Amino acid sequence: MQTVRPTEQIDFETNKRLLNRYRFIEYESLRILAGWLPATANMEFKLAMGRLLWEDAQHVQHLYQRLREVQTPAFRPPDDPALEELMAQAINAPSERDLLAGLFRVIKPALVDAYRWHIGQTFANPDAPTLYAFKHILVDEEEQLDWARAALAQHPVGGWEEHIAHLLAAAGGITGQEARPPAPLSTPVATPFAPPRQAARDPRFSLVNRKAGQVLSDPDAHTRRQLEFENYSQEMLAAETVALVIYLSPDMPWEFTYDSARHCYDETRHCKLGIEWMAHYGLDYTSVPQNTRIYAWRSQYDALTQYTLLTMGNEVHAFPYRHESIKAYAQLDDKLSIQYITYDMADERTHVIYGKRWIPELMARQGVDKPVDQFVEETVALWEKEYRSGLLPIHDRA
Ligand SMILES: [Fe+2]
Ligand SMILES: [Fe+2]
Repeated sequence: MQTVRPTEQIDFETNKRLLNRYRFIEYESLRILAGWLPATANMEFKLAMGRLLWEDAQHVQHLYQRLREVQTPAFRPPDDPALEELMAQAINAPSERDLLAGLFRVIKPALVDAYRWHIGQTFANPDAPTLYAFKHILVDEEEQLDWARAALAQHPVGGWEEHIAHLLAAAGGITGQEARPPAPLSTPVATPFAPPRQAARDPRFSLVNRKAGQVLSDPDAHTRRQLEFENYSQEMLAAETVALVIYLSPDMPWEFTYDSARHCYDETRHCKLGIEWMAHYGLDYTSVPQNTRIYAWRSQYDALTQYTLLTMGNEVHAFPYRHESIKAYAQLDDKLSIQYITYDMADERTHVIYGKRWIPELMARQGVDKPVDQFVEETVALWEKEYRSGLLPIHDRA
C-alpha cells in the first residue's frame, strides 16, 4: 500500500483560521451593505444591495455551518487587528460608488481568489464539506463581481479604492499569509459613517410628505390596483428600515441577522415587483413620489421599536387589504396582479413570523422589562397614532 504524502498547504488549524477570516469578511460586508442601503441614492444600487447582502448572509451561513463542526464557538473574531481594521474602515467611504468599489473591486475579488486558491490546497476528501461551501459561494461571488463591473463601469478607480487596497495588504491579504506592508495612514477622503436617519433617493424622484398609512375609500378596481402597485414600488422604505435594524443590532444572534437579511431582500423584491407591474402597464415608477418621511419617522426610534412598528404594525395589518385585492382583481381576470400579491403575502407571512420570533430577543437585549404582549400592544398603538393617522411626527426635530 502506498503511503499518502500530503502536498496540501492547508492543515486543520490553518483551515479554521482561514474560514474564520472569510466568515468575518462576508459578515462585515453584509453589515456594511445594510448600513449603506438607506444612505445610497441610486435606486438600481439599492435594489441590488438587498440581494447582495442576502447572498452574503448565505455565504456566512455556509461558513458558519462548517465552522460549527470544527470549533466552538463557531462565531469568533479573526484574531487579526489589521483585518478588523480593514472591515471597520471599509464602511467610511466618501460616496456610495466608492463604497461599492471598495467592496466589490478590491475586497471581494481578493476573497474570490482566496476561495479558489483554498479549493486547491485543502485536503479534498477530509475537508469536502468546505469545498461544497466554496463551490456554492463562488457562484454568487462571481456574479457579484460581474454586477459591480457593469454597475461601476463609469466610476474611475480613486483614492478610496487605493486606501482599501493598502489596508487589505496591511492585513496580509485575505488569507493573512502575504507579506504585510505597514498600514496606511488614515486618508482625507474617509467619511465617518453614521447610521442614516434619512432615506436617500436619486434625482429622478420627487419626495412627498403626504399622508401615509391611509387607504382610499372605495376607489374603482383599476384605480385601486394602480395605487396598490405604486405602493409596492415604494417598499424600498421597508427594506431600508430592516437594513437599519440589522446595522443597529450587531449583538443579536446570527440567526436574527440571517432572517433579517432575507426580510430586507424580500422588501427590495416587493419594490421591484411594483416597478415591473408598472412597466407592464407602460407606467414609469420614478414618477411616483417617494414618501421618505416614513423612513425618517421610523428611524427616530430604537431598533426594537422600528422592527415592531414594521412587523406588528404594517405587516400584520396588510393581509385583509390584500385579500380584498385578490377578489377585486379576480373580477378583472387579472392573473398577473393576483400572482404578484400571492407571492408577496407568502413573504409577508414569513416576516410576521420573524417579528414574533425576534421581538422578545430584541427586548431582552435592549433591557425592555415588560411582558411582550404589552410592549407589542403599546407599539401598535403608537403605529395607529402616528402612522395610520398619516401624521408621521418627527419628535426630536420638530
Ligand atoms: Fe413587503
Ligand atoms: Fe414585509
